[in-house]
Amino acid sequence: MKESENKIYFYPIWIRIWHGLNAIGILVLIYTGITMYYSNRGFQLMDFQLAINMHNITGIMVGLSYLIFSIGNLRTTNHKHYKVKRIGMFEKVLKQSQYYMVGMFNNQHPPFPLSEKRKFNPLQKLIYSIIMYVFMPGLIITGIGLLFPELIIENVYHLSGIFLTALLHASLGFLVSIFLIIHLYVASIGKHPLENFKSILNGYHDPNKH
Ligand code: HEM
Repeated sequence: MKESENKIYFYPIWIRIWHGLNAIGILVLIYTGITMYYSNRGFQLMDFQLAINMHNITGIMVGLSYLIFSIGNLRTTNHKHYKVKRIGMFEKVLKQSQYYMVGMFNNQHPPFPLSEKRKFNPLQKLIYSIIMYVFMPGLIITGIGLLFPELIIENVYHLSGIFLTALLHASLGFLVSIFLIIHLYVASIGKHPLENFKSILNGYHDPNKH
């Protein structure tokens, strides 16, 4: 990891490219997904057919950008930051949550300050791992299923395979949308609300500003 004027180079270019495509893509998917889910004759956020086309194309783009994330994480040491150790995890996550709920409003120091070795605090690590290694693959796989319904099993007991895939896809989409709201709030925590947003654009994190 490069360092410049005590700043840590947390986000190499491949992470920034993946993250940018993913962030824009997920916003488009949420908007078009809501349009597809809730449209009826009296209510439409945008043209229905356009929403379907945009959702399909953006879904493919987000799927491809996930390949950048997977290959980058496989070929660099970035994957280490996502490794959750089960021993002591609960206590650490609790400590970090207490900091977010009480400590930071009382000007306490963060219990797990970020450093070259610790890019994520324990709560971030757990949530990012679940989002990136469970929810995103789940969304992409069910999305591929809905794009090519002939791949889906016809019935699971008495329920249609397509119905179950759509239900899982929409539920995961909902959970990722909730994650995004919390992610934006947590990213705004720091000495200045825009500090972390600058970091994900220029790559450098300033540990003194956390
Ligand atoms: C408008 C949309 C988004 C903005 C403005 C945004 C902002 C940020 C910021 C500021 C960071 C660096 C600080 C931190 O780790 O908290 C970050 C990192 C990260 N974001 Fe986002 N984000 C967005 C969407 C998303 C989405 C949709 C996902 C996943 C579904 C996501 C997943 C991640 C992950 C996994 C990291 C850590 C990457 C790494 O260093 O390996 N973000 N984001």
